[in-house]
Amino acid sequence: MTTSPSRSPDGHRFLPRHPAFELEDALASDWHGGSAFRTAWFNAMSMLFPLGEKFFIDSVRHYRQSVEDPQLQREITAFQGQEAVHRKEHQRYNELLCELRGYDLEAIENPIRERIAWANRELSPRRRLAGTVANEHLTAILADFMLRHRDSLQDADAQVASLWLWHGIEETEHKAVAFDVFQAVGGTTSERREALFYSTWYFVKDTFRIARLMLRKDGKLWSIREWLSGINYLFVRPGVYRRILPAFLRFLRRDFHPWQHDNRDLIAAWTDEQATSPVRPA
Ligand SMILES: [Fe+2]
Ligand SMILES: [Fe+2]
Repeated sequence: MTTSPSRSPDGHRFLPRHPAFELEDALASDWHGGSAFRTAWFNAMSMLFPLGEKFFIDSVRHYRQSVEDPQLQREITAFQGQEAVHRKEHQRYNELLCELRGYDLEAIENPIRERIAWANRELSPRRRLAGTVANEHLTAILADFMLRHRDSLQDADAQVASLWLWHGIEETEHKAVAFDVFQAVGGTTSERREALFYSTWYFVKDTFRIARLMLRKDGKLWSIREWLSGINYLFVRPGVYRRILPAFLRFLRRDFHPWQHDNRDLIAAWTDEQATSPVRPA
C-alpha cells in the first residue's frame, strides 16, 4: 500500500453530473457555425471518447487497491463516474451522428479498438496508466482552452456546445486523478514523457483520420475553403493548437503537476452560468 496523497487544491470536490442534451437536430448539420471542418474536428474527437475513456477507467481501476489515501480514493470514484457518463453521452452522440450523416461507426472505431487491444496485451499496467495520464493532460489543456476562449465555440449550436462545455468542466475537475495515482504507484517522469509523445501522435492522427472520413462522406474533403478555415481555427484564430503549446510542454517538466495551473475559476464561472441556463432542461 502507498500513502502518496491526492495533491488537489484544498476543498476541491467533484462528482459526476447527469445532464441531458437535445442533439438530434444539430448533429444532422454542420453544427459548428456552418463550418464543415470545425464540425468534423469536434465530431472526430467525440469518436475517440467511448473506447478511450473505458481504457482510462480500466487503467486507473487496476491500481485502485494500491491507493491508501482516502481523498484520492474518493477522487478515483468520482473520476470513474464522470468518465462513465462521458462515455455514455458520447456513445449516444456518435451513434446519432453516424445514423444522421451516414458515417461508418465500425470503420471509424476499429483502428482505435485494435490499438487498445494491443496496449492491453503488450504494455505493462503502469505504461497503460502513463498513457492515461498523458491523455488526461491533452483533454485537460484542450478543455482549459475551450472554456477560457469561448470564441472557440462561437456560433455553435447551443445544445452541442453545452455538451462540450460540460465535458470540459469535468475534465478540468478530475485532471489530476490519474496523475496522482501514477505518482502513488511509482510512475516515473520518463514513462509519462514517452507516453505523452505517443498519446499526442495518436490523438492528433486519429482526429484527422476520422475528420477526413467525415469530410469525404460529406463531399467536402477537397474544399480549399474548408481546409483554410480549419488551419485558421487550429493555428491562427482562436489558434487552438498554437495556444495550447506552452501548457502542453509543461507536462515534460520533472516537477509538473496538473494543479500547478489552478483553473478552478473556470469551474466557478461555468457553475454560475448553470444557475441561469442549466444543461439539464428544467
Ligand atoms: Fe471524459
Ligand atoms: Fe478525463
